Amino acid sequence: MSTEPLLKVENLTKHYVGRLSLAQRLAREKPSVVRAVSDVSLEVRKGEILGLIGESGCGKSTLGRAILRLHEPTSGRVTFDGQEVTTLDPMALKDIRRRMQIIFQDPYASLNPRRTVAEIVGLPLKLHDLATSADDLRAKVIAIIERIGLKANQLDRYPHQFSGGQRQRIGIARALISNPDFIVCDEPVSALDVSIQAQIIELLLELKREMGLTYLFISHDISVIGYLADRVAVMYLGEIVEMGPVDAVLSAPRHPYTQSLMSAVPDVDHPGHAQRVRLTGDLPSPLDPPSGCKFHTRCPLAVDRCRSEAPISEDLGGGHRAACHRLHEKLSLLETA
Ligand SMILES: Nc1ncnc2c1ncn2[C@@H]1O[C@H](COP(=O)(O)OP(=O)(O)OP(=O)(O)O)[C@@H](O)[C@H]1O
Ligand SMILES: [Mg+2]
Repeated sequence: MSTEPLLKVENLTKHYVGRLSLAQRLAREKPSVVRAVSDVSLEVRKGEILGLIGESGCGKSTLGRAILRLHEPTSGRVTFDGQEVTTLDPMALKDIRRRMQIIFQDPYASLNPRRTVAEIVGLPLKLHDLATSADDLRAKVIAIIERIGLKANQLDRYPHQFSGGQRQRIGIARALISNPDFIVCDEPVSALDVSIQAQIIELLLELKREMGLTYLFISHDISVIGYLADRVAVMYLGEIVEMGPVDAVLSAPRHPYTQSLMSAVPDVDHPGHAQRVRLTGDLPSPLDPPSGCKFHTRCPLAVDRCRSEAPISEDLGGGHRAACHRLHEKLSLLETA
């Protein structure tokens, strides 16, 4: 694995600004603003898998999509293989999209129901002008379809004729056919039966090795991230609160939010080792995020400073970072019960 970053994200922010009706405009109402991703910085090295974890609604998909400019970032910078993505004109963006792909969370919603598998998987080749003839296109589609585990005689079928796992395989074929370097895997197995999840994960790992890919792998499942990721970033309400090598972060989490996530994972080696940390309250709304440290409203360790001042991410050594005012007090929510 190289240490050179393939992808560099600097201070990326994505706010969704609500549309106002005419009546609201006339009444001079302000549009609502969803602060989905706030000031995120991270790097993904060539050949690595960076896991991105956090609860539903914390901004994982928004971050993945803003990196690819599928959702236009509000501010910040994304650099891919030395090229700044955030300022590319539409033609140059199209070129770089060949190299940066996404596998979506929902294999049902992400495939056009009126197109055959051959059309869905062949479309990137057409868009990027990568086939020399109709026969060449068909041959390339067959090659990738067989590699991901479907048969050539299934090419003229429609998405509804396949199971969830097969549909996700089609989504993987579509992402890979343009021979990309980097893939955002946005919870590619969350919608699938547990028995199918492992097959798809193994397929993604094999393809990564064969094709020299780099993944940003989004999941809310810590055991999946622990199995496949090299490093992990933990997201809370649009911000990265902790990041580092997966073993360090999962075995010795330093941020109280990561500790609460870890406490919910059953530890087979030490049953009853850690007390389950129950966070009080729901995830606050990104329409009106808390002041100071965004986690303070649910943090069992919060003190006055946390309510007024946002903590800065600190280097803990070995690439491990966390943002918490109480980092150095060596407090842990994971004390033995
Ligand atoms: N197109 C959009 N317009 C307005 N708000 C949006 C849009 N997409 C997402 N949001 C909001 O942004 C916040 C982050 O959503 P996002 O889908 O990125 O979270 P997530 O971490 O991927 O969640 P999940 O685990 O459920 O997939 C949520 O409050 C969501 O409601
Ligand atoms: Mg999502």
